[in-house]
Amino acid sequence: MNNYFATVSRGLEEVAAKELIGIGAKDVRPEFTGVHFRGDRELLYKANLWTRTTFRILMQIARIKSFNSDELYRNVQQLDWSKYLEPEMTLAVTCTGKNKNLNHTHFTALQIKNAIVDWQKCRGGKRSSIDTENPDLLINAHIDQKHCILSLDSSGSSLHRRGYRPAIGAAPMKETLAAALLDLAEWTPDLPFLDPMCGSGTLPIEAALKGLNIAPGLYRDFGFQTWLDYDRELWQSLLKEASDRQKHELNVPIIGSDRDLNAIRQAFANAEASGLEDYVKFARQELSTIEAPADRGVLICNPPYGVRLGKEAELGELYQLLGDIFKQRFKGWTAYILTGSMKLSKQVGLRTSKRIKLYNGAIPCTLLKYELY
Ligand SMILES: C[S@@+](CC[C@H](N)C(=O)[O-])C[C@H]1O[C@@H](n2cnc3c(N)ncnc32)[C@H](O)[C@@H]1O
Repeated sequence: MNNYFATVSRGLEEVAAKELIGIGAKDVRPEFTGVHFRGDRELLYKANLWTRTTFRILMQIARIKSFNSDELYRNVQQLDWSKYLEPEMTLAVTCTGKNKNLNHTHFTALQIKNAIVDWQKCRGGKRSSIDTENPDLLINAHIDQKHCILSLDSSGSSLHRRGYRPAIGAAPMKETLAAALLDLAEWTPDLPFLDPMCGSGTLPIEAALKGLNIAPGLYRDFGFQTWLDYDRELWQSLLKEASDRQKHELNVPIIGSDRDLNAIRQAFANAEASGLEDYVKFARQELSTIEAPADRGVLICNPPYGVRLGKEAELGELYQLLGDIFKQRFKGWTAYILTGSMKLSKQVGLRTSKRIKLYNGAIPCTLLKYELY
């Protein structure tokens, strides 16, 4: 069994923990912006292929003392790097966390990189080249007081990059956040889904992926595929299993609309890139003309709130309109608004039945729930 750590966006630790339990993770322990868990290699591959809300899956390889840079360098050299790295493989090191002496993450990463390539040179003269863009081995170092936790990053690039999004909107939501909102809203594939301000379509596309049980990692590559112990057969069997589990029909509509034609064009392009164009409907439509497409369902939207798009003062009317439309046209639905402005959310004028704090990137937000009777 290996120790793994999934990095997640602040506020989504519990949602990610539930997902990891669902794929068989052991000893799952959420902490600030991450989830510890244990499992074997198959679980590591599954976590990359199947989790919708995590950013990266790190595999811990050592915890060494690192009071200062000399101690860090010495202890990195105590490890047998030939288990993970051959001189022909490219390398990159990233670092998070600080202590009194190691207070510059860039320098700490450089010190670790130097220790590793010097270790290689002492053993045969050849050393790995550095490739910060697309390395064969990506090492993550986390400084935690007097210790450094060294991990291999099995994801390579962040898992929110599903690989289906060639086009991005003016303020696109990360795919991982969209998937988490669907979980928090308890949306299930038997319920119609609508995002009337869908921008580049992230929420409807993530809903369709989930509804069809399509593994979010099917469209991309992962860091572990260039590791020395990469088990191609195991990976192929997991891909086959994922394609066998995929559904080919959705019994409810999944709809996105937006008043911005360019946004809708992007949403179409994203749906096509993910092969979902037959399952998601996108339309250019002004919010004021929206009608409920069914007598029950889940609506989630992420209206502008002044930080990235629009000005707060001008947006009050939009929030008021949302409240009026919910009340008058969406009886039987559950609606959610993700917003970074509590001031604007008051304009909705309806009672919330739940408020969940989370982050959209660096912006503190609240997911507001409205049960519409
Ligand atoms: C923050 S963005 C949503 C981003 C989206 N979640 C995504 O992943 O790309 C807000 C969207 O609301 C849309 N919008 C603003 N006012 C609107 C209105 N009155 N009717 C319809 N859409 C509107 C904007 O065009 C914009 O695309």
